[in-house]
Amino acid sequence: MFGVPVGDHNFIGREKEIRRLRANFLNGINSILISPRRWGKTSLVDHVRNHLDAPGIVTVYVDAFACRSEYDFYNALAGAIMKQTASQKELWLKNIKDFLLRVVPKLTYSPETYTDFSVSLGITPNEYSPEELLQLAETVAEKKDIELVICIDEFQKLGEFHHSLDFQRRLRSVWQHQKRVSYCLYGSQRHMMMDMFQRRNMPFYQFGDTFFLERIEIETWVEYIVSRYQEAEHDITPQLASEICHVVECHSSYVQQLAWLILTQLNPGEAASIQHLQQGIEDLLDANEMLFLQQISSLTTYQMNFLRAMSAGIVDGFNTRKVINQFNLGSSSSNITRLKQALIDADLIEPIGKKMQFTDPVFARWFKRFIAKQL
Ligand SMILES: Nc1ncnc2c1ncn2[C@@H]1O[C@H](COP(=O)(O)OP(=O)(O)OP(=O)(O)O)[C@@H](O)[C@H]1O
Ligand SMILES: [Mg+2]
Repeated sequence: MFGVPVGDHNFIGREKEIRRLRANFLNGINSILISPRRWGKTSLVDHVRNHLDAPGIVTVYVDAFACRSEYDFYNALAGAIMKQTASQKELWLKNIKDFLLRVVPKLTYSPETYTDFSVSLGITPNEYSPEELLQLAETVAEKKDIELVICIDEFQKLGEFHHSLDFQRRLRSVWQHQKRVSYCLYGSQRHMMMDMFQRRNMPFYQFGDTFFLERIEIETWVEYIVSRYQEAEHDITPQLASEICHVVECHSSYVQQLAWLILTQLNPGEAASIQHLQQGIEDLLDANEMLFLQQISSLTTYQMNFLRAMSAGIVDGFNTRKVINQFNLGSSSSNITRLKQALIDADLIEPIGKKMQFTDPVFARWFKRFIAKQL
């Protein structure tokens, strides 16, 4: 299962993180969760929310991915609070009438059913100030005598807003005084999230319990792969299953995708072999090619050359004469710093200590094949 957050039958591992996040949710402690793309943040938070089983604590999920501006975000936040704190008896729209008097919601019915509808609030500064909207969660929690955990997914998007720093200050100054509301803020693009949460001069510095999602252990993956293959009436050896994990460095989404691409090659009853793995890797690279091509489409020649150098195994010392000349990285060492930063901002590479590495192991493999094809 890949491409969507996983639950129940397909959700594995993460016992430590589940315990920690759950304890934070139950005790009103803010959490900040950071990982590269597709490692399993959304799945993890969904899992904890779905199994919370704590009467009096309500979780609210907000996806900030599509938010482009401050009021976009307030509308998403207010809409999610209104919808997800409405109990069965009490309707969502009544919530809006009770708590957002100055708003006239717009209903859009789904053309298929006419019973499903979505609500857009369309709140502007004319109706409500930012402070009022940020305080909405606390007001609702008090009136309903509940506690809220507001989970904001793709939180890094907020760092891209116009005047983001002022906006972040506003959030923090209201949120830090709330008694009945805690926050779980999570997102990818490690450098962006780290900037927001780990720099002293930033508003969200030390806002809560910050943790980096780790890889799911290889033993857990192997057990999962072997048992799913068995369910599909195919054999795979633990060695081959662990080879799948090694190829993609236990990157959650790619483990699932590669295991799937191998499974689809098998005839009824056939066991997976090393040849299937090799074909699976080619298929995996092909399946992601469009995405990767798009990721490199806006790179400059120097930036591409920098990636070429990394692909050739160079991880540091980029501003030595030898490397600059061999890979044609421009003339000055300030150029190297700029190149590096641009690629970090594009989330293609990341610094691990003093060394650089590709963020995505499958991209790294694909890039090697891509250059080889061009020669
Ligand atoms: N606990 C898990 N058990 C099994 N598979 C997982 C688990 N977590 C993640 N995956 C795999 O990784 C994929 C991505 O998971 P998810 O969408 O939760 O990650 P994410 O970090 O939120 O990604 P994004 O950065 O795109 O928001 C899933 O579709 C699934 O294939
Ligand atoms: Mg996600």
